[in-house]
Amino acid sequence: MSSKFQAPRGTFDVLPAAAMTRRRIEHTAAAILARAGYEPIATPSFEDTELFERGVGHSTDIVRKEMFTFEDKGGRSLTLRPEGTAPICRAYLEHGMQRLAQPVKLSYVGPFFRHERPQAGRYRQFHQLGAEAIGTDSPLADAELIGLLAELLAEIGVPGVELRLGSLGSLDARQAYLEELRAHLRAHEGELAREVHERIDANPLRAFDADDEGTRAVMAEAPKLVERLEGEDAEHFAEVRGLLDAAGVEHAIDPTLVRGLDYYTRTIFSFVCDRLGAQSEIGGGGRYDGLIEQLGGKPTPAVGWAAGIERIMLALEEEEAAPGRDVFVAVAEGGEARRAALVAAELRQAGLSAEVDLAGRGLKGQLKHADRIGARRVLILDSGGAQLRDMASGEQRPVEASKLIEEIVGGQA
Ligand code: HAM
Repeated sequence: MSSKFQAPRGTFDVLPAAAMTRRRIEHTAAAILARAGYEPIATPSFEDTELFERGVGHSTDIVRKEMFTFEDKGGRSLTLRPEGTAPICRAYLEHGMQRLAQPVKLSYVGPFFRHERPQAGRYRQFHQLGAEAIGTDSPLADAELIGLLAELLAEIGVPGVELRLGSLGSLDARQAYLEELRAHLRAHEGELAREVHERIDANPLRAFDADDEGTRAVMAEAPKLVERLEGEDAEHFAEVRGLLDAAGVEHAIDPTLVRGLDYYTRTIFSFVCDRLGAQSEIGGGGRYDGLIEQLGGKPTPAVGWAAGIERIMLALEEEEAAPGRDVFVAVAEGGEARRAALVAAELRQAGLSAEVDLAGRGLKGQLKHADRIGARRVLILDSGGAQLRDMASGEQRPVEASKLIEEIVGGQA
């Protein structure tokens, strides 16, 4: 009988088969990032609302519409974190990490929350893996991080991945371009979607992201920022591209690429997967050279990315097979359940996976259960001795009581 309760809209339970795949993804990421010197960090699941308002930006969809914000009993406004970069910058400042050797390279994994309209690949609680390098403006850092995400997706086996690359220039340099873009948008006001129209002043770049035909047609003719880059911005972008080319990381320049957070400067990138529907971005990120200052610190350039674990899983499309068990320790008529439990514990100490019956089944029932849980071998204890049964071949042979553990561990390979 199912209960009247269900997981809240936009959330889901991670059942064991999917949990195995997640674990593999997280382990792969942890290993790849650790080898490159990114150290794990964890920040709270909620923060002061103002951190996101200031960090992510008032005019973004995230802050305008998608935050889970609540007041605590002390009257503070808190928000379930919609993303991880602003919290990590907050932690960087709070713990004086600017005094450490720079850059500070960090990695993280955990749940994030956005009140979006749920659909495949878009949830209200989802999980990100991320990496940030804080305290470097070197294009080497951009290329390193992009290369690491490419390596990670390849190692996990995500098919059909494409990397799109763009640059937003530095904040000052962008102003002139934004004026030019606003002028273009105003000249075509009547053809724009209402939302885009309303944000001409606050966030004209988002017009590149609109999916209505009118706005798209206007944007096809709009001036593009990557074509306007000058001086150090242009050099930085050229350097990142050159480094990616040299490392064999395939990428396409996308002059219309924009991201849903306001803190980006210079390099932005997006890994998309052709196996996914509308929510095709697996992971993305970029430089955020102004964010630490925005949060009250000294100017500190930084770059990073985050990838969505659920989207990686959707792209993989298959779940890991349950790992099976090495040994099931069964008891025959006259055998002692207590002895089985001790033998199983010893086998586990020796490094094997071993289980016993916990439901009072007869021998036949135990063998059936061992088969259902994928046990490769069953050790059957009876009053006098023990038999070892290979579940694949059905072969059964006696094992000497004094050598039980050695025989089983030895026969494992
Ligand atoms: P983001 O693009 O907003 O960037 O999110 C990163 C990834 O999280 C997306 O590419 C997507 O895979 C996943 N994601 C986002 N929203 C959802 C959702 N509602 N359901 C499922 N998956 C989702 C950031 O969050 C930045 N903090 C990335 C970054 C790090 N930039 C610099 N450093």
